[in-house]
Amino acid sequence: MSSLTGKPVSFWIDSTATTQYPALPNDIAVDVAIVGAGIIGITAAVRLKQAGKTVALIESKHLSTGASGHTTAKITSLHSLIYADLIKDLGEEKARLYAESNEAGIAQVVEWIEQEQIDCDFSRQNAYTFAESTENVDKVEAEAKAAISLGLPASFVKDTTLPFPIAGAVKFENQAQFHVRKYLLHLAKKIPGEGSYIFENTQVRGVENGTPCTIETDRGTLSAQEVILASNLPMLDRGLFFAKSYPKRSYIVGASIARDRAPEGMFIGTGENYRSIRTTPYNGDVLLLIGGEGHKVGEETQTEENYRKLEDYARDRFGIDTCDYRWSSQDMVSFDNLPYIGNLTPADNHVYVATGMSLWGMSKGTMAGMLLSDLILGIENPWAELYDSLRATPFVSQTSIKENMDVAIRWVGDRVKGLNKDLSDVAKGEGKLVTVDGDKVAAYRDESGTLHTVSALCTHLNCIVNWNSAEKSWDCPCHGGRFSCDGKVLNGPPLADLEKVDLS
Ligand code: FES
Repeated sequence: MSSLTGKPVSFWIDSTATTQYPALPNDIAVDVAIVGAGIIGITAAVRLKQAGKTVALIESKHLSTGASGHTTAKITSLHSLIYADLIKDLGEEKARLYAESNEAGIAQVVEWIEQEQIDCDFSRQNAYTFAESTENVDKVEAEAKAAISLGLPASFVKDTTLPFPIAGAVKFENQAQFHVRKYLLHLAKKIPGEGSYIFENTQVRGVENGTPCTIETDRGTLSAQEVILASNLPMLDRGLFFAKSYPKRSYIVGASIARDRAPEGMFIGTGENYRSIRTTPYNGDVLLLIGGEGHKVGEETQTEENYRKLEDYARDRFGIDTCDYRWSSQDMVSFDNLPYIGNLTPADNHVYVATGMSLWGMSKGTMAGMLLSDLILGIENPWAELYDSLRATPFVSQTSIKENMDVAIRWVGDRVKGLNKDLSDVAKGEGKLVTVDGDKVAAYRDESGTLHTVSALCTHLNCIVNWNSAEKSWDCPCHGGRFSCDGKVLNGPPLADLEKVDLS
């Protein structure tokens, strides 16, 4: 079988500089500490600073290299198919608030790009959710009707610039796309100074609610009147958000295509094997981005196979020879389609959270940053109740019970994985689970032949990690934690690296 093509890195990260903000140097105090420097954290930090607060934005690695650095970066309130369901499940008033809040997120991004003259490959685009076969066309038509009834710029169409026929699509006009990391790095420059800071390579270990709150990191301690946790899934378990949502992984390939062969607009399909399609400026031509093959983290899928299917699609539908990029993204999906934005727990009245963006993080993430800054500034916000992080329903839904059962089954079932005791058949560049003296060990052999052995027990809640051969990482099937091939945390909720195991 042919090997995968393309650099295994997000185009957004590969085409921007590595940021060089300092780590937390010593104990400091600010009005608001914000953990996580993606679109939510940076939006909230800029708004709070503009309102006169001092802020500290704290990132465990580098700015916007997590979920925000791996998105398709569509800025739209057309979220696949959602409005007909929201009207049915929550009523028209709440569906309208959802629509308005996401449109407000788009407007905030556009306002800053214009005000600050941000060079970020921004363009206005129409967004489409399309049905290729007649099977899903009724749903698409119903979505168009629902969106129109809510005042959104929607219509039902049968023609697009895609190079293949479709049965129908819902079209939203005047949506937008950009280079997300160019946008966020520019915006972040507004944060440091006058008592405000950005700290990178600073891992938050714990947060205590209080007046002030105390934030423990691996570099020192901060105190802040208010704390925002904006690190995709909050690293603090006490809000139980890991059990109120599930991690979903999806894949993206990027391929150079001549401008005159590229479709105009942003697209997402319907049905099981849906694809996400958009373009972005690239070396004088454009880079065609194809996303899809989304699955719950922990479901058995072959990562290479997922990329291969996207490559095949790019080849069949757009005549692409090889890809230039491939990467995966991971986001938390909430059980009722609404993000959680508000306090971490009823007792944490100074600690706030935003999670569950459900793969539509550009408009929702901006909206979340706006809402969090309003909550902290005491400004009344009409979206607060809809997205209240402490709302009760999702935790007892049938879907969430099933998700938690799946986790429990994996926790038990995975104990029997890795019965192989032989380390000699771990090939160079590969990882394998082995059992040594009854302990599960995650063994990785690097290209020079050196073996790296760490405990296979995830440091979050002790599920057993799996080897991801395409991305050379150890992935936890329970709540989406990810570790590098030598056991360093890549993705929360785990806070600690996999424990080193000495087999000598
Ligand atoms: Fe929760 Fe690994 S992420 S147990």
